[in-house]
Amino acid sequence: LSAVVSRDHDPLSSAARRLPDIIIIGVRKGGTRALIEMLSLHSDVAAAQSEVHFFDWDSHYRRGADWYVSQMPLARSGQLTVEKTPAYFTSARVPERIRRMNPDVRLLLIVREPAERLLSDYTQVFHNRLEKRKRQQTLETLLMRDGELNLDYKALNRSLYHVHMRRWLDVFPRSCVHLVDGDALIRNPLPEMKKVEEFLHLEPQINASNFYFNQTKGFFCLRDRRRERCLHGSKGRKHPRVAPEILRKLYDFFHEPNQKFFEMVGRTFDWK
Ligand code: A3P
Repeated sequence: LSAVVSRDHDPLSSAARRLPDIIIIGVRKGGTRALIEMLSLHSDVAAAQSEVHFFDWDSHYRRGADWYVSQMPLARSGQLTVEKTPAYFTSARVPERIRRMNPDVRLLLIVREPAERLLSDYTQVFHNRLEKRKRQQTLETLLMRDGELNLDYKALNRSLYHVHMRRWLDVFPRSCVHLVDGDALIRNPLPEMKKVEEFLHLEPQINASNFYFNQTKGFFCLRDRRRERCLHGSKGRKHPRVAPEILRKLYDFFHEPNQKFFEMVGRTFDWK
């Protein structure tokens, strides 16, 4: 599988589509778009534009490696290819499939405080349903059942990082996975991106001039020689207001899973 390479038609550019060297595996709503965009600021990185869903959708996986390569961007020799599909993190069959493709692949996982991630997940689904004119459900209906947290709510499950991480670490050594602090990336992207560069053995290139804070958006935006750009309007949405007693339940609920996750990955995060 790893031999698959498709040559570009332009012999001068010597660019080619290749299997990814780096995969951003999730987590959904962790800041995966910001991460891949910020990584593309580096001249030695070529990033796939859209989410490929190769390893998690059987209909794509069945198309084989040539199809996967065809979804990759053109990369010059020396450039690393990266794709991001946040659904990989929570899909049970994905880690082994990726290992079979390339056991030395470098994996990036961006996580966020789990309750905040859940609210972001809910907000995303809310907007998707709004666009499709589907009936909305309030957060409370989905999250609560008989006064207790509904453990079957998917957005809650996706924030149980240790459950999903276990499957990755059954297949990949810890050293293959770099964790990005999604909350820190929102507050100040540069330090997190320097750590990513280091993990990927990229020449240090990303610097303070690549970021500027946009007051209107309330987030950092990106700048390189070509242009200035903020992330799409769907990134950085307002979250619903949640009753304090429900928030407290969420923080209490996530406390133990978070400790398990910290132990598993050998580091902590500044979560409530
Ligand atoms: P919210 O829209 O809930 O605030 P993903 O790309 O994985 O779907 O993650 C989306 C999240 O990225 C957003 O969630 C936002 O908080 C976060 N994010 C991180 N850095 C950002 C940036 N510079 N601009 C906009 N959103 C950013």
